[in-house]
Amino acid sequence: MSAAPGRAGPPPDGRPGGRFITLEGGEGAGKSTQALRLAGSLAAAGLPVLRTREPGGAPGAEALRAVLLGRGPSEPWDPVTEALLHFAARREHLAHTLRPALAAGIWVVCDRFLDSTVAYQCFGQGVPRALVDGLAALTLDGLRPDLTLVLDLPPAIGLGRVATRGGADRYERMPDATHERIRAGFRAIAAAEPERCELVEAARPPDVVAASLREAVGRRLGVPLVDPLPA
Ligand SMILES: Nc1ncnc2c1ncn2[C@@H]1O[C@H](COP(=O)(O)OP(=O)(O)OP(=O)(O)O)[C@@H](O)[C@H]1O
Ligand SMILES: [Mg+2]
Repeated sequence: MSAAPGRAGPPPDGRPGGRFITLEGGEGAGKSTQALRLAGSLAAAGLPVLRTREPGGAPGAEALRAVLLGRGPSEPWDPVTEALLHFAARREHLAHTLRPALAAGIWVVCDRFLDSTVAYQCFGQGVPRALVDGLAALTLDGLRPDLTLVLDLPPAIGLGRVATRGGADRYERMPDATHERIRAGFRAIAAAEPERCELVEAARPPDVVAASLREAVGRRLGVPLVDPLPA
C-alpha cells in the first residue's frame, strides 16, 4: 500500500509509519520548548504523537533520572559509571516506551537520546567513544533516530536562560569549558551524520526556531507541518 499524499511512507526498517525524532543540544538550548511545539504540530497534522524525554520516559528510567540529575554522591560519579546509568535508563525507556510506541506506528518526539551521552560523557567528560558506541550496539537493538534536531547555541546563552529557573542540576553546574566541549561534541555529531542530523541555530526567538524545525521535519520526513498556534 502506498503512502497517502503528503504523508511519510513507512521507515526503511519495516516498522509501521511512526518515526523517531530526537531533539539534542546543551543546557537551555530550547529542547523541551521545541519538543512540545513540534509534537503539537505533528498532532495538528493528524499524526499520533508521543512526547518523551531522557534520562526518563519510563518509571525505572525516571527513577534513574532523579539519581543522575539530583545531588547524587558527595563525590562526582566516575564518568563511566555515569554513562552506564544513562544506558540503564535508556534501556528501560526503549523497552517500555520507545519500542511499543514505534511498533504501534506512533511518532515519537524525544527530548535527548544517545547523542547526549556521546556529547556529555565522551566529549564533555572523557569517556572513550568506543565504550559508548559499544554499549549502544549491545543495548539499543539497532534503534536509531529517523531525524535528530540538534539545537546549537553558545553555552553562556543557554545557561543564562536556565539560570532564572533556580536550583541548577548537576549538569548545569559543570565548568564552562565542559559546556564548550559538549557544544563542540554536538556539532561534531551533526557534521559526521548529516543524513540523520539537522543542525539548527537556536539563539533565535522560539517562534523562528520552531518554524525551522517544522521545515526540517517536512523536508526530511515528508510531512508538511503548520504552527497549530499561530501568533
Ligand atoms: N529560542 C529561545 N529564546 C529565548 N528563550 C528561550 C528560547 N527557547 C527556550 N527559551 C527559554 O529558555 C529556558 C530553557 O528552555 P528549555 O527548557 O526549552 O531548554 P532545554 O534545552 O530543554 O533545557 P535543559 O537542557 O535544561 O532541559 C526556558 O525558560 C524557555 O522558556
Ligand atoms: Mg529540557
